[in-house]
Order: sequence, then structure tokens, then C-alpha cells
Amino acid sequence: MKRSIYLDNAATSFPKPPEVIDAMVYFMKEVGANPGRSGHYKSVEAGTIVENARKGLATLFGISDPKRIVFAMNVTEALNTVLYGFLKQGDHVITTSMEHNSVLRPLRHLEKIAFISLSIAPCDGKGFLDIDKLASLIQTNTALIIINHASNVCGTIQDVRAVKEAIGDIPLLLDAAQTAGCFPIDVKANGIDFLAFTGHKSLMGPQGTGGLYIREGLSVQPLKRGGTGSISEKEHQPDFLPDALESGTQNNVGIAGLGAGVDFILKQGVDKFREHEKTLTAALLSQIRHVTGVTIYGPLNADDQTATISITFDSILPPGSRYDYGGCGAVNLEVMEEDIYPAEAGNILNAEYDILVRAGLHCAPIAHRTLKTFPEGTIRISMGYFNTLEEMEIAAKAIGRIAERKHS
Ligand code: ALA
Repeated sequence: MKRSIYLDNAATSFPKPPEVIDAMVYFMKEVGANPGRSGHYKSVEAGTIVENARKGLATLFGISDPKRIVFAMNVTEALNTVLYGFLKQGDHVITTSMEHNSVLRPLRHLEKIAFISLSIAPCDGKGFLDIDKLASLIQTNTALIIINHASNVCGTIQDVRAVKEAIGDIPLLLDAAQTAGCFPIDVKANGIDFLAFTGHKSLMGPQGTGGLYIREGLSVQPLKRGGTGSISEKEHQPDFLPDALESGTQNNVGIAGLGAGVDFILKQGVDKFREHEKTLTAALLSQIRHVTGVTIYGPLNADDQTATISITFDSILPPGSRYDYGGCGAVNLEVMEEDIYPAEAGNILNAEYDILVRAGLHCAPIAHRTLKTFPEGTIRISMGYFNTLEEMEIAAKAIGRIAERKHS
């Protein structure tokens, strides 16, 4: 097999710990039953596996009652559940200019059908939210504030506690797609009212898994209603969690894998994951920041970002520079006569260096507008727990060679 360097962990983590695969195979081969439906021992064991996964997630996020967590197919479903199930006609919502389309598209739809009004709080050229500006957008009918914990484009991490302090009692929905599993999250300490997460990124689970935490006292209507295995004599949907929001047979094989992924993280401690990813980020940043012709976007500081770095091989310059064309966070630039477009550079990394990255807009056009990289986008290099310092050196060399190619 080719030894590729996988640097697309912001899209989905790879590889997965063997424990995750083993747990899924065990579920398929030895358990197989539908949890919470039948009374036989296999159904009971399936139920135990699912509830253990819920408990592991509760431990990871500092949630005292695991039943406040409902499973979902992915973070998009979790976010949609809150947006369509919590908001009421006439509500005002605030989000940020660094969001993914998983937040923006449902919000724009709700705005278009005149169900809600929407304000977008600006972020600066490195992706940091202007919290004072966000607070100034609050209206008497503001019902929800949605923040992307870390940008999937350039890794910028928002200060969640400071946001919550600024918004007071208004419910906060945190999109933790890029941080759950690789950054410590404590819902109580940070005043997170809703936490939407995906299972297949840093939580190390398979695709098709994710979930939503809902703080006690908040009520969300389901996106779908149906069989739950509970109070089956009633024709109406149960109103208690998690059943209220978990209709139909779930991706239980996936949840078995997700539970094993969470256990893998808990055994070592999330801080170990964070430290390793910071080390990789700092190493790659230090090796590419002096490469002429490479523009880097985002904080350019491992403490303030996830292990996600966006670059371009072009002439976008940092604000305030002598050539100020816009752009952000960039270093050591030269005005180039010809650009290598992100898609082309991504293909070169893939085809010539076996380095797998994602180039383009990363389903986050508003974030690219904020970074001034719309419409071409960037080349995103996103590390994960299984990447090594040696791989950072190889990636840095490849980036340097592509930048050199521009001069020749
Ligand atoms: N949202 C994922 C990404 O950023 C798929 O690539």
C-alpha cells in the first residue's frame, strides 16, 4: 500500500484507533441486536454499548446527566435539530462570520421563510470573533447565539467563556465539530447550553455518528418522530430525553465505534491530544512561515488554533502591509506574477507528494469571505492525533518546493 500522508483530519480523522474498528466488528459479529427494543440478552447488550458511549461522552464534556445527550448522524443533524426544534417564529438569532454552511444554510432558510431574523457578528482577519460587536447586536427577541468553536478553514479557536459572559442568559449553541475530542470542553464551566458535535473527526468514531447536548431546562422539538422502544402504548412522541429526539433504529454499529473512540481519548486524557496537535501545528507553522510566496491564514499561533492551517500560493497580502490587498495573518510574501490556485496546489500535493489535503472553500464560504480568500479558497492542511513531526517536515518541504516552482 502507498504510504500517503493524510492531512485532511478536519474533514474526517484517519486512521481510526484499532479499538474503534474492533468495537464495530464486535457489534456486527457478536451483538447485532436493536438496543432498547427487545428484552433478550443481545438487545440488552446492545443497549449497554449505546449507553456506555453516552456516558463516555458525558464524562468527556463534563455533563452530569448523560441522558441530556442525544445521538445524531452528524453535527449537521445536531445543529439542524436545535435550529428547527428550538427557535420560534419571530426570534432573532446571532451567528458569526466564520461559520460552516451547516449553520449558515439552515439559518438562511429560516430567514428566507421569514421565521427568524438573523445578524452576523464580524470576525477579524485571523478569524477571531469581535465579542463586543456581537453583544451590541443583541435585541430583546434574541433567542439563540451560535458560535463555531474552531474554524474548519484556519483553526481559529473562539473564547467561549468570554462569549457566554457577554451574552448572559441567551442560550449559546456551540458547534464543536472541529474541537470535540481534541480540545477540552466543559459545558458547565463555559456556559454552553447546546453542544453539537460530530463523531468522525477528533472523537475518532466512524462517519454517520454525532450528537447534541441540551442543557436541563431547555426544550427542543424533534426533527423526526417515530418508534423509540419506550411508552409504545402511546401514539404520541415521548417528551423525555434521549427518546424524544432519538426515533427509529440508530446507527448503533457506529455508536459502538464512537464509544470506543471516546474511551480511547478518555484513557489518555484530552490534554494529551491537544498537546500533540499543538506540537505538530507549531512545527509546521515554524517550517513554512518563512517560505517566500506562501501566505498563511489564521492565528499563526498553535495556542490559538486547532491543528488546521490554511495556506495559499498567491499574492494575497496581510492588512496594513505595503501592498495591502486584504487577506490575513500572512507572512513573508512577495507579489507573484502568477498564482497557483488552491485546487491545483491540492492536486500537486496529492499526485506528486502523496500528501492528502482539502483545497477550496471547505463548505464555509462566509469564513473565506472573512479571510479574504473567497472565491478561490485555500489549501487546508489539517493534522490529527496519528500524524508525526516527520510528516510535518515532509509536508513543509513539499510546500516549499511548490512555492519555488512559482519562481522558476
Ligand atoms: N466540514 C468538513 C470539512 O471542513 C467536511 O472538510
